[in-house]
Amino acid sequence: MLNIFPKLSEIPQELIVEKSIEQGSSLINGELVRLDTDSQDVCSPIAINHGGELKPVRLGSHPLMNHEIAGEILASSISAMRSEVWKSKSIDYRASCIEEFIHELAKYKDEIVRLLMWESCKPMAEAISEFDRTIEYIRLTIDAYREMYSGSETQYSNGFAGKIVNSPVGVVLAMGPSNYPLYETYSLALPALLTGNSVIMKVPRYGALLHSSIINLMQGAFPAGAINVIYGKNEETINPIMQTGNIDMLAYMGSNMFAEPIIQSHPRPYKLKKLLGLDAKNPAIVLHDADIEETAKELALGALAFNGQRCAAIKIIFAHSSIYNELMEVLRREIESEKIGMPWDSDVRITPIFDRNRILYLKTLMEDALSKGAINYTNGGGTVLHTIFIPSLLGNITPNMRIYSEEQFGPIVPVVKYEDLDETIEYVSNSDFGQQISIFGKDEKVIADLARAYYLQCGRVNINTKCQRGPDIFPFTGKKFSGAGELSVTSTLREFTLRGVIAGKDNSITNGVLGMI
Ligand code: G3H
Repeated sequence: MLNIFPKLSEIPQELIVEKSIEQGSSLINGELVRLDTDSQDVCSPIAINHGGELKPVRLGSHPLMNHEIAGEILASSISAMRSEVWKSKSIDYRASCIEEFIHELAKYKDEIVRLLMWESCKPMAEAISEFDRTIEYIRLTIDAYREMYSGSETQYSNGFAGKIVNSPVGVVLAMGPSNYPLYETYSLALPALLTGNSVIMKVPRYGALLHSSIINLMQGAFPAGAINVIYGKNEETINPIMQTGNIDMLAYMGSNMFAEPIIQSHPRPYKLKKLLGLDAKNPAIVLHDADIEETAKELALGALAFNGQRCAAIKIIFAHSSIYNELMEVLRREIESEKIGMPWDSDVRITPIFDRNRILYLKTLMEDALSKGAINYTNGGGTVLHTIFIPSLLGNITPNMRIYSEEQFGPIVPVVKYEDLDETIEYVSNSDFGQQISIFGKDEKVIADLARAYYLQCGRVNINTKCQRGPDIFPFTGKKFSGAGELSVTSTLREFTLRGVIAGKDNSITNGVLGMI
């Protein structure tokens, strides 16, 4: 089975790693500063098969900054915020700097897609889509910004005249997750920059090397201090700068486990503005009249795309008892036919997992569930082959099993049999999470009634389709422990902006002043 891992001769020629990336510098106060701090070696989760023996592939290294360098970065960001270098520039100036940057970034598509495959093991089609989506997201954001913020009309009320004005929040710390190291990092950092904030961007733990060319581009694209880049461990870099109380906003996509200590490090956490995308345990509810074949296909895609390493993945399925057996049979077939392989193999969905600790956690969840009566429906499901976790369909799931309420973030598909829809409403109400839910069925009245009940608890209700963030014009939100604030090409801009007003009694001086604003 370890033959899943390729021989050198089986790797497409254009994807072979010929030269490692030794990222020894970072963008600090407008310069690419070489750092003599510790560094982190980066190896691919993909190993090469040398006559049956697996050999690691070293991809390169990046700096591990310490708190002193993080402190210099913070000082640079504060100084940029207090000066006129970025925030006071016109909307058009900032928009054209970012447009130019995006134009240059587009030239690095092949390199970044290749690194997404080697470092994150993202299937090629999804890596290409992540790159294209990032570029598109920023282009749409720039268009929306020009439309939304290019001057407001004077408003009159009760003898007053006033104009709404917008200002940046201040120093924004932007942190993307390891599963979307490009899209979710830059769909936070660039809108924050566009709206005039000083941005400190933290490179995610996995998927770090692809930022190497990007920060080189940033150095030429933005004035000193407008954006600085941190590499390293949160305890050494992020928590110390939070402790100063000088970070005004945290824009963060990832898990509660890491977000909480960051927020708690701030001396006045209530003062910190937050835009958060956090953990999720998105359920799919399969009604008695669902089209089983179509539903099973969508469930497998929703649960297993990119090994289920998506915050918006379907993480638990509730199947009505009348269709439970049939659904399990079709789902088993779907899951067992999932193609397992390397990111460049066509139609592959299951690839090596980038975080080794996740594999141990998945095994623990499996063992816990099986010891409490869960049934493993899939042949070989849960087997670990080096960094590959064979997808498992687990039936007979009950509330006392950890996988019932904990987010697996990996290729385990747990299914609960229900009799009454109230059981699903109760699950959603009692869950700590409230990102999304999917309903599969045909009866419009039943689906509408359920959607009304669920949307009070979740950020999005999906009808006969998997949970997902896109299209990016829709708000992506999470209730309860799944998030705070709202992401989309338009709403992210509002999150990074503070609204104010310039107003006076409705007379000629006030109107004269407002005419000049
Ligand atoms: O991990 C984050 C979300 O899953 C992003 O949404 O996978 O539907 O694009 P998506």
